[in-house]
Amino acid sequence: MLSEKLLKALNDQITHEFASANLYLSMAAYCAAQGYEGFSSFFIMQAEEERFHAMKFFHFVNELGGQVVISGYPDPQQEFASVKDTFEKALAHEKFVTKLINDLLDLAESEKHRPTISFLQWFVDEQVEEEDSFNTIIDKFNIIGDTGPGVYMLDKELGQRTFSPEGSDQ
Ligand code: FEO
Repeated sequence: MLSEKLLKALNDQITHEFASANLYLSMAAYCAAQGYEGFSSFFIMQAEEERFHAMKFFHFVNELGGQVVISGYPDPQQEFASVKDTFEKALAHEKFVTKLINDLLDLAESEKHRPTISFLQWFVDEQVEEEDSFNTIIDKFNIIGDTGPGVYMLDKELGQRTFSPEGSDQ
């Protein structure tokens, strides 16, 4: 049985995950406009992953007999200083999401709601991967700089990213 408070927190997370997808699509649009189709494709894959996260929460709430509430969210950031800046903003966003997941877990633990505690473990692990992924890319930008041949090569590399649910995302 889900408490009203936990149900609302889970529904809020669905909104955050869809908002994340929109933010990454906005980053994809910016990168494409700068001529970086690989980075754009990378962020489109990231947006797919965020929708997958949202739907994991959607199905979980359904399975527990709660009613999912779909809410709106503000417009995402649309302009960035550079492609490197998009990845820095993405990392900052993932740190924010990690905090949301941790807060949700704290709530589930305070209510001793074992199904939610168990369900959230996947997201705890996922957030470690997400932060590590963006950290690694930013490290590469720090080596190659913001422009030039290195960025062209990185664009090509990240353009190879694919996404399939429940598995490989890089
Ligand atoms: Fe759904 Fe990127 O966290």
